[in-house]
Amino acid sequence: MITVALPKGRIAEETLDIFEKIFDKKFVFEDRKLVLKDGNFTFLLVRNQDVPTYVLHQAADIGVVGIDVLSEKELDLIDLLDLKIGKCKVCIGMKNEDKLDLNKPSIKVATKMENIARKYFSSKAMAAEIIKLYGSIELAPLVGMCDAIVDIVETGTTMKQNGLKVVETIMESSAHLIANKNSFISKKSEILSLYDKFSTHIA
Ligand code: PRP
Repeated sequence: MITVALPKGRIAEETLDIFEKIFDKKFVFEDRKLVLKDGNFTFLLVRNQDVPTYVLHQAADIGVVGIDVLSEKELDLIDLLDLKIGKCKVCIGMKNEDKLDLNKPSIKVATKMENIARKYFSSKAMAAEIIKLYGSIELAPLVGMCDAIVDIVETGTTMKQNGLKVVETIMESSAHLIANKNSFISKKSEILSLYDKFSTHIA
């Protein structure tokens, strides 16, 4: 039995589509249910940022999560495979009329990805005052709360519609299959068999 943590939304649907193709059967959550047990699998529907936590605590053996979330959390997990879905970028955004000047001594940055932001600016020897937000990050520079944001860009529409532009791309991201280290040992053959099937499907 393998327990799989999936991030609610499109990535969960796309991952279940892959499972359906690989095993030639339907995997569908009943309305509002967060657990789906089917054959050898139990699927858990969790918040995107919580996927690594479920896998770290071995509440799930494996999970699907954006590599951006994984780098932000820096947890001791096995990164098995890039599923090449859920592609996006982690970018620095600023108001259209502003410029990123890395020679300035400090910058005020709003983000939900504190660690990625802090690391980036420290690599540029710039002191960053990080303002932690949980959503609608694009609003922060508009109301003068920060100089820049570090946020996910997928289509670029949210930034564009709010008079912001991308001034730097910090990292490219896509959804990866991750595993708990103990599960990887105790359920090695099952996890590797799944890994092989996913790899073949993606290739
Ligand atoms: C994410 C991200 C941006 C938006 C980018 O927010 O934080 O706001 O999507 O997408 P786009 O480039 O296609 O416009 P999300 O939808 O997760 O909502 P949130 O603001 O509540 O985090």
